[in-house]
Amino acid sequence: MKRLEGKVALVTGAGSGFGLGIAETFAREGAKVAVVDINEAAAKAAAEKIGSSAIGLAADVSKAADVNAAVEKTVAAFGKLDIVVNNAGITHRNRPMLEVEEDEFDRVFAVNVKSIYLFAKAAVPLMQGQGGVIINVGSTAGLRPRPGLTWYNSTKGAVHTMTKSMAVELAPQKIRVCALAPVAGETPLLSTFMGEDTPERRQLFMNSIPLGRFSTPQDIANAALYLASDEASMITGVVLEVDGGRCI
Ligand SMILES: NC(=O)c1ccc[n+]([C@@H]2O[C@H](COP(=O)([O-])OP(=O)(O)OC[C@H]3O[C@@H](n4cnc5c(N)ncnc54)[C@H](O)[C@@H]3O)[C@@H](O)[C@H]2O)c1
Repeated sequence: MKRLEGKVALVTGAGSGFGLGIAETFAREGAKVAVVDINEAAAKAAAEKIGSSAIGLAADVSKAADVNAAVEKTVAAFGKLDIVVNNAGITHRNRPMLEVEEDEFDRVFAVNVKSIYLFAKAAVPLMQGQGGVIINVGSTAGLRPRPGLTWYNSTKGAVHTMTKSMAVELAPQKIRVCALAPVAGETPLLSTFMGEDTPERRQLFMNSIPLGRFSTPQDIANAALYLASDEASMITGVVLEVDGGRCI
């Protein structure tokens, strides 16, 4: 028996990195998957690669109209919605906090934080009565902040608190809400986190991870798979560190 047989999932930011790994893994385990990304070509390419159990949808997760349309199209294609993974995220480049301009601050909060509110508004009413799972991708950045990423770190702190608060409020409706806190991962976003992508800088980041390597999309997908599956039916409100020991 596949672990997500019969489930319908929507994964944001699934055209690349962690989200792509999550979408591929969910489909492998029997889910129907809506691959949502602001980069339409990437969303369509990912869905095509996955095959007939996936659809690719263009949406900016910070815009209510886009979020509502993505949820509507998912239900139109697959009949329901069981799992939402709020994975899409961006950061300002690693630099002193006072150098980040207001429009960039607003954009990082809109994509990383407001999107969770918008998807809750769109998807929770569909889950009421049937139950569901919402997984928010936070970060070790929200638990053990590094300098140079102050406003990004703060968005992830908000993601973790939203997760716990949503979990207690939605528990009576059998909707579980969990977060993942990945450590620095091998994705296109990594160089922006580091500020500059040099072997020395990579080593510096790596040295802070006891298991001695960056996370991979498959590491994050494996954790998301567990939380999304019925094996985790008694688990809600956790912020699961997938971090090789970074936060100890
Ligand atoms: N890579 C890391 O080191 C790391 C560590 C901890 C947490 N995270 C978090 O993991 C998540 C995924 O990051 P990643 O490293 O896979 O990055 P990535 O850049 O590889 O993928 C992010 C995807 O999100 C999409 N996206 C960006 N803005 C969007 C928007 N407004 N609407 C819809 N899609 C949008 C991008 O097009 C891209 O395909 C993010 O929330 C990030 O903060 C990453």
